[in-house]
Amino acid sequence: MPVFNSSSAFRVVRISALLASVVFAGSLAAQSREELVAERLKPIGEVCLAGEACAAAGLAAPAAAGAGEFSVEATYTASCSMCHASGMAGAPRTDDAAAWAARLAEKGIEGLVANAINGVNAMPARGMCMTCSDENIAALVEYITTQAQ
Ligand code: HEC
Repeated sequence: MPVFNSSSAFRVVRISALLASVVFAGSLAAQSREELVAERLKPIGEVCLAGEACAAAGLAAPAAAGAGEFSVEATYTASCSMCHASGMAGAPRTDDAAAWAARLAEKGIEGLVANAINGVNAMPARGMCMTCSDENIAALVEYITTQAQ
């Protein structure tokens, strides 16, 4: 009898240890699945029209240019290309010479710079480059309107 008892107790311990390791492995698998999903969702979460991530991209521009120096190309890439390279939200595309020619003819470079600084319709003020000075914006507008020529 004592022998039977101890071996069945031993079996119970083994079975529960086995169950515990199965549950443990299962939860590990579930965790890494969640991490994988989060990882794959990340790029989608980072895309935005007028959210914080975009504002952060604008703020990062001068840093990308280094030591507070302003770089037209780096700032264009960080702040303006998101909309103007793709034409997102109806933005005139940087490579659309006709669109820029029409806007220049209608408003002049000053008008375009003023609208870029203050924002117009879906065009956010300063293209969301919060660290850009008026002069920086003027340089960016010059750049964006002449790329297709
Ligand atoms: C969130 C998207 C977005 C970003 C970022 C953005 N733009 Fe625009 N931009 C637009 C849209 C949309 C228009 C068209 C607005 C309209 O005329 O209705 C526009 C129009 C313009 C115009 C023409 C304005 C006019 O009066 O015709 C200029 C110049 C311009 N953007 C410059 C820039 C510059 C420079 C940057 C970067 C510093 C920038 N944009 C960033 C969306 C954007």
